[in-house]
Amino acid sequence: MSAVEMLDKIVVAIADGGGRGHAFVNACRKSPHTKKILAFKGGDGWRTGPDDGLVECFADIDAGNVHAIIAEAQKQNVNLIIAGQEIFLVNGGADVAGYNGIEVMGCSGDAARLEASKVWAKTFFEKYRIPTADFEIAQSPRQAYAIVDYWFLIREVESLVLKADGLAEGKGVIIAHSRAEAHAAISEIMIDGTIKKTYPYAGNSLIVEEFIDGREMSATYFTDGIDLTPMLVGVDHKRRFDEDGRVPKDQNRMTGGMGLYAPDPRYSPGIREQVKKIARQIIEGMKNEHCPFRGILYLGLMICNGVVYVLEVNVRFGAPEAQGILALFDSDFVELAWATATGQLGKYKTRWKKGKVSVTVTLVSGPYPAPITAEAKGFEIFGLEEAAKIEGISVLHAGTKLKDDVFVNNGGRVIDIVAVAGTFKEAIALANRAAMMIHWQHYDYRKDIGKRVLLYAD
Ligand code: GLY
Repeated sequence: MSAVEMLDKIVVAIADGGGRGHAFVNACRKSPHTKKILAFKGGDGWRTGPDDGLVECFADIDAGNVHAIIAEAQKQNVNLIIAGQEIFLVNGGADVAGYNGIEVMGCSGDAARLEASKVWAKTFFEKYRIPTADFEIAQSPRQAYAIVDYWFLIREVESLVLKADGLAEGKGVIIAHSRAEAHAAISEIMIDGTIKKTYPYAGNSLIVEEFIDGREMSATYFTDGIDLTPMLVGVDHKRRFDEDGRVPKDQNRMTGGMGLYAPDPRYSPGIREQVKKIARQIIEGMKNEHCPFRGILYLGLMICNGVVYVLEVNVRFGAPEAQGILALFDSDFVELAWATATGQLGKYKTRWKKGKVSVTVTLVSGPYPAPITAEAKGFEIFGLEEAAKIEGISVLHAGTKLKDDVFVNNGGRVIDIVAVAGTFKEAIALANRAAMMIHWQHYDYRKDIGKRVLLYAD
């Protein structure tokens, strides 16, 4: 295998303001190719690593502010932009960077419709026979009521899933176990609920989807449009379970992004083949739609009776998937991103830390996933340094800022604790030890993260 062709030293920009962005920064720091890292919008906590002057954070430039990012990137001769948040891609960041001669690890705005519109994505899955939950599309509340009534009363389903069409930061999905719950969900997404108020465009249409009860899994591929390089498979924790990981607690809401374990010990060769086929079908389908896909392909999957269904496709690394999976990565991340962006993935070799697993626990503010109010921000966070000293623990800043020289909470997801150990048992214990050390007023974290994997592995 010949080596990836690239400059010895490059300037990298990262478009991501959360814990995933911090994980990217840490991964880029390790690469001998990195001359400088610009972070949009990097937080104060991202500089808590070695003070080597390598990272410049732009706290006032959001990942979605394509114009400002490209202007700064041109000024500082950025060679490569690594897209974290989908909003950079949805806003055409990769297209604009391309016109300006900057390489991007991320897809075009056209291709980003796979994530930006669930209606577009489901229609695409149907057209290319990609296995997915059965669905109908509603373009008005009236149509949505008619569809859910039909599903509950005529099809006699026991549950169904309602999904807002557009971007809603993972919060636009509600499981309804009765007609009444489905009606309430329609109001929440399309009429006057919190989702509609927070993400007004997301609920112009919605998907009514079959509820598939199985186990979830996140598969991620880097692709240059030709080759597909798989990441380790992780398990996100969306439905909340009791502390032993056995009994579901909240039947309706997804907490989204509050914890992960990786790799998934139940990722069998049979499942792997199905997932690979799906990824390939998507790449070929996107070519056929005249929007070839290059970048990161994230598959949110459900396994039911040995069959893999696609629940969602994202056009970026998941969070906390990036945090938990990159902690096990043992190759050069900048080289991987460059190979992806420049069509050289076929020359790239991925290595993983041998005999290691990771568990990520996310510390959140107050009633997450409900939106955080201004009054719930600004509380001093204690124990960050002590927790970071535990061997095997990394503390990533997702929503913090410095106020009078101390870190305070500044968002819903605040800190990601990533524990790496030889067994899941050890990694869970480490992550929980660190999670108990860090605290601020009204903080919370899920105590069930990783517990279910202990039913299948040590
Ligand atoms: N962890 C799921 C996501 O990033 O969408």
